[in-house]
Amino acid sequence: MATTIGTADSETLATQNGVRRRDFINIAAVSSAGVGALATLVPLVSQMAPSKDVLAESTTEVDLSAIKMGQGIKAVFRKQPLFVRYLTPKEIAEAQAVPLSELRDPQTLDERTKPGKLNWLITMGVCTHLGCVPLGIGEGEPRGEFGGYFCPCHGSQYDTAARIRKGPAPKNLEVPDYTFETDTKILVG
Ligand code: FES
Repeated sequence: MATTIGTADSETLATQNGVRRRDFINIAAVSSAGVGALATLVPLVSQMAPSKDVLAESTTEVDLSAIKMGQGIKAVFRKQPLFVRYLTPKEIAEAQAVPLSELRDPQTLDERTKPGKLNWLITMGVCTHLGCVPLGIGEGEPRGEFGGYFCPCHGSQYDTAARIRKGPAPKNLEVPDYTFETDTKILVG
């Protein structure tokens, strides 16, 4: 409800320190708007901060100790398949024997693995053509002509360093960011 203040009353609004009541009302209104803005900002900022669930989802820890040489496992990283493969010396030698000039997306096995860990090939399990999940990580799955991965969607073939060798895919399987936490544990992301 609006309050009407008469002219005669206005003089009585003057306070001892010279600040009029009307001014005080204006200051109070501005302060309360300031507090309101702050109160709005706090939930907004807390909404923008990643929740614990999101932070946990953004990294994936993989235990390598159960993977035998020549085998691999399919894990999940940021809701996408992640291939973790323990290469044999033969698979490493095959990858190293390929001249870079023969590759569509030239990269050495060294560049696609961590120093001293040539035998651990960590890649996304997402074909770089249209995003199908290639075969070759599971026991008994076809690995294609180059011994790596075979994409059943349109026939892309990857070698033992997961580099594209044949078919429509333009790029090698992506190597995500990861670190070795111990000799048998990696943290992806
Ligand atoms: S999505 Fe893999 S070849 Fe097309």
